[in-house]
Amino acid sequence: MNPVIPAVPLNNGVEIPQLGFGTYKLPPAQTRDLVLHAFDAGYRHVDTAQMYRNEREVGEAVAASGLPRAEVFVTTKLNNGFHRHDDALAAFDRSLDALGTDYVDLFLIHWPLPAVGLYTEAWAALEEIYASGRARAIGVSNFQPAHLDRVLESGTVVPAVNQVEVHPYLRQDEVRAYGAARGIVTEAWSPLGRGTVLTDPVIANVAARHGVSTAQVVLRWHLQRGDVVFPKSATPERIVQNADLWRFELGAEDVAALDALDRGERTGSHPDLENDTTR
Ligand code: A2P
Repeated sequence: MNPVIPAVPLNNGVEIPQLGFGTYKLPPAQTRDLVLHAFDAGYRHVDTAQMYRNEREVGEAVAASGLPRAEVFVTTKLNNGFHRHDDALAAFDRSLDALGTDYVDLFLIHWPLPAVGLYTEAWAALEEIYASGRARAIGVSNFQPAHLDRVLESGTVVPAVNQVEVHPYLRQDEVRAYGAARGIVTEAWSPLGRGTVLTDPVIANVAARHGVSTAQVVLRWHLQRGDVVFPKSATPERIVQNADLWRFELGAEDVAALDALDRGERTGSHPDLENDTTR
């Protein structure tokens, strides 16, 4: 039986399924079939990006699924080289073309690139796209509070989400609290720490007591914190397992045990330092 995945309301009333399927590093040649497998397993939310070079295959899967477009939530992200206003608009058009759709559900600025210094210009372009109705919601990714301060000062639309790296080794309390205070939903990328947290003995202990896998414990921890997650897997059985999160609940002690694992450990770039406009 397919899971009933809860919806999280965004600040403009649009609802996002709390669990999605991540496509970072999925090889384009496998992406279509894996996304179709995820739809079969009950996922209705797919997270891609211009940077991942698999938007076309994601779009093919949406089309091949036979699902009504309105039943699938599709997120994509502006690539780093396109923060100039006109470049952002053109890049968005290319995303729609690749995805084979006339709107996306959520469009994000992928990285703030503070050394480039154009993210408020990019945000103005996203506001235009939003006003045109071709993105049902807009947001940012990898923004620190200081970057969000500038977006809120210069813009007129409050970002719907901030998608940042979050997992038990990187709790991100400060940026999550900043978002919560301003109606910005946190999306946790690399919710499994790209696999690094899955052999942790504390998590293994919790998993054994609940009779589930360590991945399921970690995903459940994210859900109970209220974040949106979209684990990536290229393994069909894991795609199914990662959506099987609704028949157990972590107790306060379990949550505290996972909370205590925070050690500020990133698997990806620090947002203040990322400045690569070529990828
Ligand atoms: P694979 O794609 O080979 O199945 P994140 O979402 O944090 O980036 O983590 C993705 C990594 O975690 C991938 O290496 C993926 O491996 C692995 N992974 C995803 N789901 C599971 C699972 N249920 N059990 C073990 N490893 C998993």
